[in-house]
Amino acid sequence: MGRRPAKLLLMTGTMFFSAYAFVSVRAQRSDTGPGAQRFMEYCAGCHGADGRGGDKAPALVAASNTPDRSDSELFRIVHDGTKGGMPPFAQIGDANIGAVVQYVRQLAGKAVSTGAPAEEAITGDADAGRALYFGKAQCSACHLMQGKGGFIARNLTNYGRSRGADAILQAITNPDSPLVPSSEVVTVKTERGAALTGVLRNEDAFSLALQSEDGRFHLLARSEVTDVHHSGHSLMPRDYSTRLTSKELDDIVSFLLVESRKPRPTDAAGR
Ligand code: HEC
Ligand code: HEC
Repeated sequence: MGRRPAKLLLMTGTMFFSAYAFVSVRAQRSDTGPGAQRFMEYCAGCHGADGRGGDKAPALVAASNTPDRSDSELFRIVHDGTKGGMPPFAQIGDANIGAVVQYVRQLAGKAVSTGAPAEEAITGDADAGRALYFGKAQCSACHLMQGKGGFIARNLTNYGRSRGADAILQAITNPDSPLVPSSEVVTVKTERGAALTGVLRNEDAFSLALQSEDGRFHLLARSEVTDVHHSGHSLMPRDYSTRLTSKELDDIVSFLLVESRKPRPTDAAGR
């Protein structure tokens, strides 16, 4: 990478914003139709695999938005983007946009029929969950919570807001189902014999941008890359169901639910 230090510096600034829109991927086995695949490929990195929102974009399945919008309105939002930060997707073509819009509708339909998780009772000890999150379970090594923790993985501050306890428990004990393409760990080998492991944040015909676990960005020219190995999973540890007791898991889930219900100044911006 020493070859192009100036470009690397330039790229890092815009990377965070462009990364999710352009990561190209192979089809995911767990996906069903083309709409689901396109959604995972282009949208899940920001809106969450379940459409319930991420730290970069709002929920698409909340009762307040998608169900009230017409198909043509959704189509236009995806095609043209919005001033509020939704990138335009005209380049994926009308057929793909149409498929993705139908899939978003499907997700929204499911969300309505499974009710409002926000009213769910807290069954664990959220204080014990906090201690685990920042201590033994080390969630904070990768995930921000109320501004504290790492940022290689998504911010979990709002995670419990639009999700029920079961869905949160599943996400912790059975990660990568489905695996969001932009979260997949890859190992890139270069012609100079170096191997870099991390997450592909951007990929095009000429270059790859890889973020290693320490948070650093590496820009590699395709011409110097000899192999890209896809691991099939994210950095999320896969052993929490055995490493933690069911009470500890319940405590962590409760902590996420309780934190997500706290009012925050950012709420004014509409999440
Ligand atoms: C880089 C992150 C990002 C990606 C990728 C992304 N979105 Fe968005 N999306 C946003 C943001 C931010 C907003 C909120 C925009 C606003 O308030 O103007 C948004 C808003 C929306 C809305 C309007 C929600 C509402 O009702 O208010 C829809 C629909 C939507 N996105 C669908 C999609 C679909 C479908 C895809 C994939 C093709 C996608 N988005 C990919 C960031 C993203
Ligand atoms: C080594 C880093 C790492 C650690 C430690 C870790 N995670 Fe994760 N986690 C990830 C990554 C990477 C993902 C994939 C999604 C992403 O990129 O944010 C993920 C995904 C998740 C998701 C699903 C997010 C979604 O988009 O639906 C939840 C919930 C979650 N982690 C909670 C936790 C909790 C709770 C702990 C501690 C018990 C924890 N994680 C520990 C890296 C980590």
